[in-house]
Amino acid sequence: MTNLGNMQSLTSSITAVTSPFRRYLSDLHEKYQAFDEGAVADYIPELALAKPEWFGICVVTKAGQVFEVGDCDQLFTIQSISKPFVFGQALEDHGREYVNSKVSVEPTGEAFNSIVLDEETNRPYNPMVNAGAIATTDLIKGANGTERLKRMLAMFKRYTGRDLDINVPVFLSEKATGFRNRAMSYLMLNFDMVSDKIDETLDLYFQQCSIMVNARDLAMLSATLANGGVNPVTQERALDERYVQDVISIMMTCGMYDGSGEWAYRVGMPAKSGVGGGITAVALDKLGIGTFSPLLDAKGNSARGIKVCKDLSQDFGLHSFNVATPERELAGWIAGEEGLDDW
Ligand code: DON
Repeated sequence: MTNLGNMQSLTSSITAVTSPFRRYLSDLHEKYQAFDEGAVADYIPELALAKPEWFGICVVTKAGQVFEVGDCDQLFTIQSISKPFVFGQALEDHGREYVNSKVSVEPTGEAFNSIVLDEETNRPYNPMVNAGAIATTDLIKGANGTERLKRMLAMFKRYTGRDLDINVPVFLSEKATGFRNRAMSYLMLNFDMVSDKIDETLDLYFQQCSIMVNARDLAMLSATLANGGVNPVTQERALDERYVQDVISIMMTCGMYDGSGEWAYRVGMPAKSGVGGGITAVALDKLGIGTFSPLLDAKGNSARGIKVCKDLSQDFGLHSFNVATPERELAGWIAGEEGLDDW
């Protein structure tokens, strides 16, 4: 199911030169490997198969340097991390005004699967909660489900630089058990927030959640946003520059569900988590972070991933609103790396 050819060429092209930052990440990984709070998601039966010890950290800089430690080749399902990127594609397909008429941009402070619409406008609250994400997925253009999925996978490929596949057992597991998402869809159809292609759109939504990625892909997703929508390694544009701010600002306000306020305050990087155990975090104009550990806290966010992002933010001053001199200066810690020149 994986595209091994691409993955191997990607891994082999990572420079062997070491820098203090590589050692820093290795120490960070060691520090939190023993931290085993949280639980693997089991509300979708297939997700319960994840191993609690899996743990990977990857950082990709704006210059395309890749730093990774731990289980960065381990594939897992992207889940809700797909949502900001699909939001970006919906904006490209329809423009801001129309998309905003179908999905609002207000944080809910409620769980990701809450069945709640804005009382005045009947819109789902934002594209990061399930209801808003389904409304966003509904907007992805294409003549039929297959074509829409193809367009979506092509969009993700522009960000990650490699072909991605669907985990079919997870997709089928979600489809068989996603009654709540189905209920929300019909509620939204009632208010004309989604089209009547409910089955097709739900299949697409479950498929987007079942896309298999690794920690490196997550770092490439956020590094592309950090680089203004252009993949820093392939130099391919993944997202129209007009919409980069839309995607990043929603990640900042809503990306970590009902933990978004605390995250914005303490970590301060626009980010998105998924119940597969991934987090992608953007340090604008600097780098992207991808973490993977399937042990989730009560809000559905990766517990180790939060710790890692918090440390990186504090140690290198990556909080979006930081003006103080950081303890460690990023450029100096990365120095010594030659970067990637053969991608
Ligand atoms: O809709 C669902 O239940 C999932 N496939 C997506 C959930 C998700 O990742 C929420 N995350 N934290």
